[in-house]
Order: sequence, then C-alpha cells, then structure tokens
Amino acid sequence: MNKKIVLGTDHGGFELKERIKNHLEKSGHIIIDVGVYNEDSVDYPDVANKACNEYKSGNYDFGILFCGTAIGISMAANKIKGIRCAVIHDLFTAEMCKAHNNANFLAFGGRIEYNASVENMIDKFIETTYEGGRHEQRLNKITALEK
Ligand code: RB5
Repeated sequence: MNKKIVLGTDHGGFELKERIKNHLEKSGHIIIDVGVYNEDSVDYPDVANKACNEYKSGNYDFGILFCGTAIGISMAANKIKGIRCAVIHDLFTAEMCKAHNNANFLAFGGRIEYNASVENMIDKFIETTYEGGRHEQRLNKITALEK
C-alpha cells in the first residue's frame, strides 16, 4: 500500500535524504520534500517546524526527518503538538516505534553509521501495524503532557 510521506532535512542529512527519497519514490510512495535541497548550512528547528506543520495540514501517513545525528531535529519535532518522532537505529526499534508507540515521524542521522540499512528500517516501519490496546492509554498520556 502506497504511503504519503513528508521528508525534511538540514544540511547534515541532505545526502541521506536524497538517497531515501529515491528509494521511496521507486517503491511507489508519494513523497513531498520540504527541503533542504543542498548542503548550505541551516538550523534544524526550522526544518522540523516546516515538515511537521506540512504533515499536520496535508493528510500524510508519516514523515521522515534527517540531520547529522537525528538528535537535534527529533528534539525539535517532539516539541510540536501531535508529533511523536522516533530516533531509531535498527530493525527492532523500527518495528517497535510503530507497534507500540505509533510514531508519526522517524529521524535519521546522515553522519551515523547504522548496522541496518536506513531503507530496510523504513520499510519495516511501513509494514508494521500499530497494536493499540494497552498502548493507547500510554499515547493518550503523552498527548496529555502537551497541555
Ligand atoms: C549540524 O552541524 C548538526 O549539528 C545537525 O545536523 C544535527 O546533527 C544536530 O543534532
């Protein structure tokens, strides 16, 4: 099933974002890329804000953010109401962040050497279903922290 996905990166994740965009488009997903489009230095909170607001207004399935480490851009994204951005690093966390946390954003670092391919991690996230049940009350408690 094809997904609608928003991508956003700072300069530190630009190259990885381009690679992942290519992979996802080849797989038939609808990709909206809110930038950046080159390696000129930018501030990752601005990108997180842009991508998360695009996600909230555009009927997306989920979003993917990139920076050098995944850390700064995920910190910024998780300040935005309704965003649950997961920093994942292997196939297990790719699966769990959907099954248990129903993440709506993933974050990756362009300067990180992952043991699993980022393409495989994203595919695993896409093919996993949120389990709901006992996890729902926990997500509701996360939402309550936003108030
Ligand atoms: C930019 O140099 C770098 O700090 C940024 O991409 C990110 O890694 C921050 O967490």
